[in-house]
Amino acid sequence: MKAIITGVTGQDGSHMADLLLDKGYSVIGTARRTSGSNSKRIDHLKNNRCFSIVETDISDNHSVRELIKRHPDAVEFYNFAAQSHVATSFNQPSYTFDMTGKSVMNILEAITEIAPEMRLYQASSSEMFGSNYDTRILYQNSYLNVYKGNSHFELPAFQHEVEKFQNEDTKFMPQSPYAIAKLAAHHSVRLYRQSKGIHASCGILFNHEGPRRGDDFVTKKITKWIGEYMRWLEKFKATPSMISSRCEAKDCQTIFFSGSQYCFPKLRLGNLDAKRDWGYAPDYMNAAWLMLQQETPDDYVICTGETRSIREFLDEAFSCVGISDWSPLVFIDPKFYRPCEVDYLKGCCKKAKEKLGWKPECSFKDMVKIMVQHETQL
Ligand code: NAP
Ligand code: GDD
Repeated sequence: MKAIITGVTGQDGSHMADLLLDKGYSVIGTARRTSGSNSKRIDHLKNNRCFSIVETDISDNHSVRELIKRHPDAVEFYNFAAQSHVATSFNQPSYTFDMTGKSVMNILEAITEIAPEMRLYQASSSEMFGSNYDTRILYQNSYLNVYKGNSHFELPAFQHEVEKFQNEDTKFMPQSPYAIAKLAAHHSVRLYRQSKGIHASCGILFNHEGPRRGDDFVTKKITKWIGEYMRWLEKFKATPSMISSRCEAKDCQTIFFSGSQYCFPKLRLGNLDAKRDWGYAPDYMNAAWLMLQQETPDDYVICTGETRSIREFLDEAFSCVGISDWSPLVFIDPKFYRPCEVDYLKGCCKKAKEKLGWKPECSFKDMVKIMVQHETQL
């Protein structure tokens, strides 16, 4: 079986290539031309006879049609190519819309015309929910302690908690040019599925991470910094406790030891209060594959159902290297705040569990540990 993967040089595309090759597929990965090499995530596949790269830019209609004309026998097409950085989309809105949104039309048209049997996976995003969520009440059985005179009774009672979540029925309220582009693509795929009858599914994936994550996404930025910082400490045979107390000042941008001329730039971050539902990237690629194995195409939310703030991510990541107070090491830089933020993401993947038989395998704690270990062992 043959499959096409766009964006194979990215985090998800490279994991998907690994997964499909393991399953015995032959894989055509597409990459756009760059002036230097950007193949580090797929270098391990260089000598795999079942893997090849075709130069394609998905924003170029001719290039997409040629790709499908050359491989009409591919049974599956996974579209991961996109300008995927949310903050960048505020500075490059039209480019992001063209790349992340409009380009999907090139793929839909080419599949419909040239290979209508080819199954399409579109990488939709939880960013499309933006500022919106649904709520439900979770009841818990508990007991109420009642004291009357010297007597003590326990009466059954119900406690409740309001849970905020997003699932396939939650209305979209995008908060960035990136999310608007993804939503345009999402609706285009639904329209072609309904009007042209192609087998096209969208995975509404919540944030998923791992050692192959791009350097400027927050989880990678944090774990990569930890790796570099630990190597710096090691170089001077220093320990975190030797850091000068003057580094604790909020406006101090570097880390240094008392009486030493050496310093290290602090980890510069923006909003630490946003909450994300973070999963492990390889788990999520399995869900994408399962979607295309279904008889009927559909859209699915893929997530862990847990949410944590950036602060909580920092707690977990620094605890992996034995640091409990990271505040003297972090500098809050307004540059990394977004003009509009998505404050809260927490998915519910009941549909994927029931229909695809999918569930996340790697816990948050393990995922963070894998990322920190990868960076510290470099
Ligand atoms: P990524 O690491 O940024 O990879 C994006 C890929 O798209 C790269 O291979 C990039 O190539 C390629 N690309 C960009 N513009 C292109 C163009 N015009 N033509 C061809 N290829 C192009 O992103 P990711 O984290 O793997 O995410 C994969 C997809 O899932 C993206 O569409 C993203 O928006 C979506 N998504 C991701 C998450 C997540 O948490 N990771 C969640 C929901 C949805 P270069 O290597 O040349 O830059
Ligand atoms: N990137 C970044 N850099 N984010 C920061 C920083 C920083 O220095 N400081 C705080 N943050 C906050 C952001 O404001 C955001 O609330 C959160 O960390 C996560 O940011 P990213 O890691 O950049 O991811 P994202 O949630 O914006 O987008 C990712 O997930 C989407 C799915 O929900 C990307 O992979 C998108 O492509 C994907 O669709």
